[in-house]
Amino acid sequence: MLTMPSLPTRTKIKSLAVLTSGGDAPGMNAAIRAVVRYGLSLGCEVYGVYKGYSGLLEGQIVPLSASSVANIIQRGGTILKTDRCEAFYKRSVRREAAHILRRKGIDGLVVIGGDGSFTGAHLMERENGFPTIGVPGTIDNDIAGTEDTIGFDTAVNTAIDAIDRIRDTASSHDRIFLVEVMGRSTGFIGLDVGIGGGAETILVPERKLPLEEVCDTVERGIKRGKTSSIIVVSEGEKPGLSTRLAADLAKRGYSAKVCILGHTQRGGSPTAHDRFLASVLGASAVAYLCGGRSNAMVGVQNDKVTLVPFKNVIGKEKKIRDELITLAQILAS
Ligand code: F6P
Repeated sequence: MLTMPSLPTRTKIKSLAVLTSGGDAPGMNAAIRAVVRYGLSLGCEVYGVYKGYSGLLEGQIVPLSASSVANIIQRGGTILKTDRCEAFYKRSVRREAAHILRRKGIDGLVVIGGDGSFTGAHLMERENGFPTIGVPGTIDNDIAGTEDTIGFDTAVNTAIDAIDRIRDTASSHDRIFLVEVMGRSTGFIGLDVGIGGGAETILVPERKLPLEEVCDTVERGIKRGKTSSIIVVSEGEKPGLSTRLAADLAKRGYSAKVCILGHTQRGGSPTAHDRFLASVLGASAVAYLCGGRSNAMVGVQNDKVTLVPFKNVIGKEKKIRDELITLAQILAS
């Protein structure tokens, strides 16, 4: 069971704001709810910023009450909406954002998002002294300094559910299916989906398999009497890898159907795991911020909520577990 930091009874922050940024992830609403209700319980005023950093620059900032976050814990997406804000790469824009928050009387910002969103928060604090704290929210689970991110569990479960369905039709028609999952340049989703979905082959960017090996695996399966197979393909930098792979397989005489799960993995009601994780991380972020800590992300390490300085998170590579890739190959054979 996840252990939280000790909760402060008094707060150094009188007024805080929360925003969601980057790709949405199921469980973000549960995190917003926790930030709002825990902040209010400490006597803070709490504001919601719409549309991430873009909305912040437009002054889309509204006070939130306990009832404004009622009935959202089960909803996917983010009630605050989100955006990827290119303008925030500019120093002058970050200075303006800090001014906007200060003019509203806000003295701390909780950012729920991923690596890019934390870069913005970190620079805004370093350059302008405005306290920020990050909550890891992305389906990719690719953030260094934390073993888990909000939305990952839901995305994996959504993809496994899709694979179970695809398997029914694959085995009825004796077909090979390439199922493409998200994850950008990392294979965390692919690996968990492949192992949990019993895939015959798993392709992740961290350990590229030559086409020959993919064909060999399919061939071995056929020789052992397998009439259908599921190959999980992590999208990598460019979505559509599975379509290119299907064309290559066709040249070798294997006909394969392609199913790109795409944004279906980002939507839907969060799992119990993600709701719990988001609630604990959201409240912990407020606990740290109100206790005077900032320029850092709340993370999970060995079942404990920890505070990791942004400088140890941003741009750092999170290593995929090699032994799991090996295990996936053994179990698939
Ligand atoms: O980072 C989350 C994610 O869903 C990635 O897995 C995917 O590559 C990317 O976002 C898609 O981004 P967009 O929704 O902007 O197309």
